[in-house]
Amino acid sequence: MTDTILIFDTTLRDGEQSPGCSMNLEEKLQVAAQLETLGVDIIEAGFAIASEGDFEAVSEVARQCRRATVASLARAASADIERAWEAVRHAARPRIHTFIATSPLHMRVKLNKTPDEVLEAIERTVTHARNLCPDVEWSAEDATRSDPDFLARAIETAIRAGARTINLPDTVGYATPETYGAMFRDMIGRVPNADQAIFSTHCHNDLGLGVANTLAAVMGGARQVESTINGIGERAGNAAVEEIAMALKVRHDVMPYRTNIVSTEITRASRMVSGITGFQVQPNKAIVGANAFAHESGIHQDGMIKDASTYEIMTPESVGVATSNLVMGKHSGRAAFKAKLVELGYDLGDNAFQDAFVRFKALADAKKAVFDEDIVALVDDEVLRGHDAIQVKDVEIYCGTGPARAILTLEVDGEPHEAVARGSGPVDALFAAIRQIVPHDRGVLERYEVHAVTGGTDAQAEVSVLLSEDGRTTRGRGAHHDTLVASARAYVNALNKLMVKRGKRPVGNVAAR
Ligand code: KIV
Ligand code: ZN
Repeated sequence: MTDTILIFDTTLRDGEQSPGCSMNLEEKLQVAAQLETLGVDIIEAGFAIASEGDFEAVSEVARQCRRATVASLARAASADIERAWEAVRHAARPRIHTFIATSPLHMRVKLNKTPDEVLEAIERTVTHARNLCPDVEWSAEDATRSDPDFLARAIETAIRAGARTINLPDTVGYATPETYGAMFRDMIGRVPNADQAIFSTHCHNDLGLGVANTLAAVMGGARQVESTINGIGERAGNAAVEEIAMALKVRHDVMPYRTNIVSTEITRASRMVSGITGFQVQPNKAIVGANAFAHESGIHQDGMIKDASTYEIMTPESVGVATSNLVMGKHSGRAAFKAKLVELGYDLGDNAFQDAFVRFKALADAKKAVFDEDIVALVDDEVLRGHDAIQVKDVEIYCGTGPARAILTLEVDGEPHEAVARGSGPVDALFAAIRQIVPHDRGVLERYEVHAVTGGTDAQAEVSVLLSEDGRTTRGRGAHHDTLVASARAYVNALNKLMVKRGKRPVGNVAAR
């Protein structure tokens, strides 16, 4: 058995399924490019039949990626499988990933099928997929609550029909490391044709055990792991790729396996996904949290000064955190700014670089010290809204102890639109002005959060909003040294995503209600 663990990234499919986490086409392509640079082996780019947008995204990712295998998810249905194939067929290495539930509960309640009917569906759909695509993965949804005898028969059927990867997901995050590892040992040991397939893990984090379960499965014989950047995904999320990759690297002594992950690209991938989705990484998150390498207590600091290995089991550099001597301020020019961006892992095109530099200069004028976190927030903000059809141009607010008044200019498809609105406070007035210019009567502001990027009263504000409309939710983010400008940018960013989800282009003052 090989010691290489294949990394199957599902940030663009299972990750994107988290409420408010949707990405547009440009954003998905950007994430896919970074996933290839990170060295993941397989990118699950979406669920091609789910919508036109998903189909387009999977097709474009398939066209763009030259190294990684590109997969599309498909239910056990002919139409799903054909749509998945249509989307991935352009890939250098296409894969169809088809699944059906195998637990008694799912088969009875969800599928309304007998176990024999499920076996028949596996045989038929995997054969269909295999006739189209040489690389077929089959998943037993809710594997961890399935009857082991039935699961073994289902796996054998899928392999006989041509599946070369067998994924046994812990769909509801119910497993424990012991039971999950044992399930892999059991299935690999008892399924007669198991040697013809690679076994794969797919863990959800409902009990906070996603990564532990994944590693237990690897010890039990799995050689592919499915995971997402920052652990985003349905409910409590999926197992986090950065945690799995670094656990395998740092504890190679007890888990002697290798991956193709370029660990120095981890931080960049994490920041990109958090910037695009608006899902902030919690400060104490392993590997990529802001505090993951911070040492506050005196005893720890003393140890770190003497020898970093006293309290650090891996270096910040090994996961791509730059420790820099390049201090930025209002006297820094283009060359220094460019060097800083390279150090932080950004590679902006000429136009984006110009825009970011202008904003950096404005920030450096407004703020005494510009920290790396400020530049990350600023650049993420710039990259985030580069393709938005609606852009914030000008914000003026009058407020005090009485009602507030906002004068706002938005550019909609390049045309300026101005509105004046009142509200109980400045944010209320500002959002009312946005609604005047781009009406969206059924849209509801579900959440509004403000976070200071650094300390100090001149800190940049990072604002995150969650908008919902008819069961669709979108998240927007904005950063600026003025909290109200950041608020307008965040709301408008979410609104742009809502328009994309509706499939309609916005038009100032006459946007579809
Ligand atoms: O969690 C799950 O079971 C899945 C499958 C569709 C692979 O995401
Ligand atoms: Zn899943």
